[in-house]
Amino acid sequence: MSGIPIKDEPVVVESYPPYGVTRRSFLFSSAGVAWATFSMAFGAGMASTLRFMLPNVLFEPPTSFKAGYLYEYAVGEVDERWKDKFGTWLVRTSDGMYALSTTCTHLGCIPNWLKNELKFKCPCHGSGFYATGVNFEGPAPRPLERYRIALDPNDGQIVVDKSKKFQQELGQWADPEAFLKA
Ligand code: FES
Repeated sequence: MSGIPIKDEPVVVESYPPYGVTRRSFLFSSAGVAWATFSMAFGAGMASTLRFMLPNVLFEPPTSFKAGYLYEYAVGEVDERWKDKFGTWLVRTSDGMYALSTTCTHLGCIPNWLKNELKFKCPCHGSGFYATGVNFEGPAPRPLERYRIALDPNDGQIVVDKSKKFQQELGQWADPEAFLKA
């Protein structure tokens, strides 16, 4: 008689999901919620780790640029060709040139050059600057800044270096690098 299963003996059947647990009920069970939370936290952690490991590259505009040749600029003119791209006005005088920052020294707006009135006028709070960059009206507390300007020794082009600034109120406009002699 041995070896023959006794009737009504429970038979264990392996199954997944376990008997009585459907996928839908698993998803909404506390175990399902915990699993989903863990997965999201793990994913966010991996994303942060990847972000940390990848180089943090900032694409900023170059701080210096070539601006062509002196003879391309009219004497007595404020030239605006580099205003939008490099935030710089080039002012050609009878004896040379200087590079003016287009950033208002009040709160950083961009003034406009009013050719007929021979002045820069800031649209934000009304500051006015002469073509030299010196402030004369409105709340701007000091003149516009100038950038380093020189000629490239190889090709003779004008080079403006925005990484070096000169402030009139500190006596820095007298620096030879603040003015390009023609
Ligand atoms: Fe130019 Fe205020 S930002 S006057």
